[in-house]
Amino acid sequence: MKKLEINTKIEVYQNLDELPGEDRQLLLAATQALAHSYSPYSNFKVAAALRLNNGQIVTGSNQENASYPLCLCAERVALAAADATYNGIPIQAIAITARHPERIMEQPAAPCGACRQVMCESEQKLGQPMRVLLRGERGIIYALDSASDLLPLAFAPDQLLG
Ligand code: THU
Repeated sequence: MKKLEINTKIEVYQNLDELPGEDRQLLLAATQALAHSYSPYSNFKVAAALRLNNGQIVTGSNQENASYPLCLCAERVALAAADATYNGIPIQAIAITARHPERIMEQPAAPCGACRQVMCESEQKLGQPMRVLLRGERGIIYALDSASDLLPLAFAPDQLLG
C-alpha cells in the first residue's frame, strides 16, 4: 500500500496592508459588493470579486430566495456574470469575503464545495489558474495559486470522455 500526499500551499497574510496592491484592491471590491447581498433568510452576506485578464473587475454576492434551495452563492453569481459579460476572458484572481450577522468573522471565508467545483471548471474552461483570496470581515487572509488547490481529486470534464 502506498499513501499519496496532497500538499496545499497557502500564503497567510496578517492583514490587508501586508497584501500586494492588486490583491488588496480586489478584496476591497469584494467587501463593497457585500452591500448587494440579498440574504434575508440567513442574514449571512457573502461577496466575490473577480479580476479578469482584460483588467475588468466583476463582482457577485449571494442571492437568496424564499424557496431556500434556489439560493445562489456569491462566487457562482460572480463567475456567471463574468462569463455572460466578458465571455471567454480568463480570470486572474477571485477574492471572497463574508459577513456574519452576529459576530465579526476573524477566519477567512470558505467557499462551499459546489463553488469550488465551479471555480475549478472555470479554470479549465478558460485555460488559466485563478489566484484565490479568502478573508472574513477582518483578520488573516489566505491566498492560493489556484482554485484546484481547494479541491483535490476533483471531478473534471475529462472523466466524462469516452
Ligand atoms: N454562501 C455563499 O454565497 N457562498 C459560499 O461559498 C457559501 C455559502 C451563501 C449561500 C447562502 O445565501 C448563505 O451563504 C448561507 O449559506
